[in-house]
Amino acid sequence: MNKNWWKEGVVYQIYPRSFKDSNGDGIGDLRGIIEKLDYLKNLGVNIIWLCPVYKSPNDDNGYDISDYRDIMDEFGTKEDFNELLKEMHSRDIKLIMDLVVNHTSDEHKWFVESKKSKDNQYRDYYIWRDGKDGNPPNNWGSFFSGSAWKYDETSDQYYLHLFSTKQPDLNWENEKVRKEVYDMMKFWLDQGIDGFRMDVINLISKVPGLPDGDKGEDDLYGNGFPFTANGPRVHEYLQEMNKKVLSKYDIMTVGETPGVTPEIGKLYVDNDRNELNMVFQFEMMEIDSGEEGKWDIVPWRLTTFKNIMYKWYTGLKEKGWNSLFLNNHDQPRMVSRFGNDKKYRVESAKMLATFLHTWQGTPYIYQGEEIGMTNVEFKNIEDYRDIEIINMFKEKSEQGIDKDVLMKAIYAKGRDNARTPIQWDSSNNAGFTSGEPWIAVNPNYKEINVEKALEDKNSIFYYYQKLIKLRKENEIIVYGDLELIDRENESIFAYARNYNDEKLIVILNFYGENTKFKFHEDFQDKKVNLLISNYEVEDNNINDIILRPYEARVYKINSK
Ligand code: GLC
Ligand code: CA
Repeated sequence: MNKNWWKEGVVYQIYPRSFKDSNGDGIGDLRGIIEKLDYLKNLGVNIIWLCPVYKSPNDDNGYDISDYRDIMDEFGTKEDFNELLKEMHSRDIKLIMDLVVNHTSDEHKWFVESKKSKDNQYRDYYIWRDGKDGNPPNNWGSFFSGSAWKYDETSDQYYLHLFSTKQPDLNWENEKVRKEVYDMMKFWLDQGIDGFRMDVINLISKVPGLPDGDKGEDDLYGNGFPFTANGPRVHEYLQEMNKKVLSKYDIMTVGETPGVTPEIGKLYVDNDRNELNMVFQFEMMEIDSGEEGKWDIVPWRLTTFKNIMYKWYTGLKEKGWNSLFLNNHDQPRMVSRFGNDKKYRVESAKMLATFLHTWQGTPYIYQGEEIGMTNVEFKNIEDYRDIEIINMFKEKSEQGIDKDVLMKAIYAKGRDNARTPIQWDSSNNAGFTSGEPWIAVNPNYKEINVEKALEDKNSIFYYYQKLIKLRKENEIIVYGDLELIDRENESIFAYARNYNDEKLIVILNFYGENTKFKFHEDFQDKKVNLLISNYEVEDNNINDIILRPYEARVYKINSK
């Protein structure tokens, strides 16, 4: 297998708006990030993925970009950005920027022009169509509720927006659009950034004709996803991008690709195809979604969890590489979703981290995960800021769905769970800002914060630090093969990693009860060493063990 820095590294994702405010306006910013680089260095991460910091009217917190080559006013200046990059590189931390090119903001100059008339030179930068008898061109719904089309009076046509009305989709069929994007990527790469995380990159090629999608009886809109995800020309575009831009730099790329299976995923990350290095797959993020989608929450099983992970491991084996994450800025907090954020918050956060850092792939830590930050439950819908939540609540309450049911769904799945400010200490507003934060701080900040974590040698923070260090010191954690142990077990997730003559055994209890575990293999004549555990472990007898609630153990096994 090829060795690469991005396989060996650990990524830390920063959502700048919520990370650290340096000037008291209640909004996190670049200088706030600079202040905290030593903290991140101490954690041990060596790659930072920065969510969008470009100019934006913030309809979707920076995922609606009005100028790709400039910095958002609230976040700082170009000089701040240069300093951030320099300060990161001087600490051996690489910078991965967000690349949001499925759509722009409707305030981007291309769209402002495009809207002016049918024969404007930028018209064809976007996807404009005639309506059908006073209705939109097709029945697609947007990811953020409502139709995926917006009517524009000036030219009596509709434009496509898969996300909010302020995020018009770019027309990738237009060669000029592709060239603009590649030039812009070079603009940033030439300043020394180390790669891109590509926002919904598998949506850039739409099926020609834009046919109506399936629509259930109770649905307001049809499902355009099959005609927009993994479209007919997406691989052609990415190979072109790779040839013209990516291949010229030593960088890392990861594509956000909803609706991708390992078979499809491989097309994006197969070494021989020259597209991307990794994708984010969302099968795991759908494990608790029912037939109605994201807001329809159902229980999940550990065997399904294992099957998803293993399928992706085998699916990409040798050819590609996996990204490992259990939360990000669009997902609920992982300790609340997959662990227990009450009685066993510390234990379960550490257990989940053990999984992420010992499975094969590159681990991504989402800000605050390293101190076990949890979901939040705001009482009023007015306290939420996320456009997806706000639009969904409005649309579904107008349809007559009970508000308590909707609030419950938001508590479990809403994106703002991940977007409350980082809890730095127990002072006002968790030390995030001296002003009024743009979104309220999670009320548990006196209990859960960075300052406390740094004072407690048994904290989740130090456990992450140790996992990251172990990864650096043991190639087997990065490159070792994977083998499931006792796959049918519904409460214990166990697996082995094999590399040269070494073996690693990982045993994880995913539940809050004591559980017996017995290996079929006999380790009597082997040398067994405990590498890490979230509990005190008395002896190294691993043949017959009882795992405590959310206990995690990693052993290294050598022949005697
Ligand atoms: C991606 C981003 C999300 C954003 C959407 C539209 O899914 O992660 O935050 O809302 O794309 O850009
Ligand atoms: Ca600020």
